[in-house]
Amino acid sequence: MLNPKIVKLLNEQINKEFYSAYLYMDMANYYADQGLNGFENWFLVQAQEERDHAMLFRQYLLNNGESIILTQIDAPNEKYNDYKAPLVKALEHERIVTASINNIYEAALRINDFRTKQFLDWFINEQSEEEKNADDNIKKYDLFAGDSKGLYMLDNEFKARVYAAPSLVLD
Ligand code: FEO
Repeated sequence: MLNPKIVKLLNEQINKEFYSAYLYMDMANYYADQGLNGFENWFLVQAQEERDHAMLFRQYLLNNGESIILTQIDAPNEKYNDYKAPLVKALEHERIVTASINNIYEAALRINDFRTKQFLDWFINEQSEEEKNADDNIKKYDLFAGDSKGLYMLDNEFKARVYAAPSLVLD
């Protein structure tokens, strides 16, 4: 059994991860409309990773005998004026997710919930990777996408991204 406050925060994180999946799918849809199928692919893979994150939080709660409470997922509601805008938004969003996970981590530490702390260690590492990937995408865009040939090549690079299941497995 987990502390009710931790259970609430973990349940809220499920919603946040599904919202992340929505947000990235919306970005993929934007790029699909623009004919940038590599960028579309990159964000579809990202959306899949976010669903995986949600399912890991779900499984952790179930493994501890806790109930899952699913709540409404907000619509992304974003308008993008240029190809770079979703990349910038993605980095901003990952920083918000990092803060949210840090908040649960802090709450777990405060009550000596070492089990949850250990579970969240994977997400602490994952978030530094997520922020780095988002930051790298912006840098690549700024460096290489200044003309249509560069944009074409970057789109091809993003097309090569392949989904990989998370390294954390909970049975
Ligand atoms: Fe679930 Fe992008 O962090």
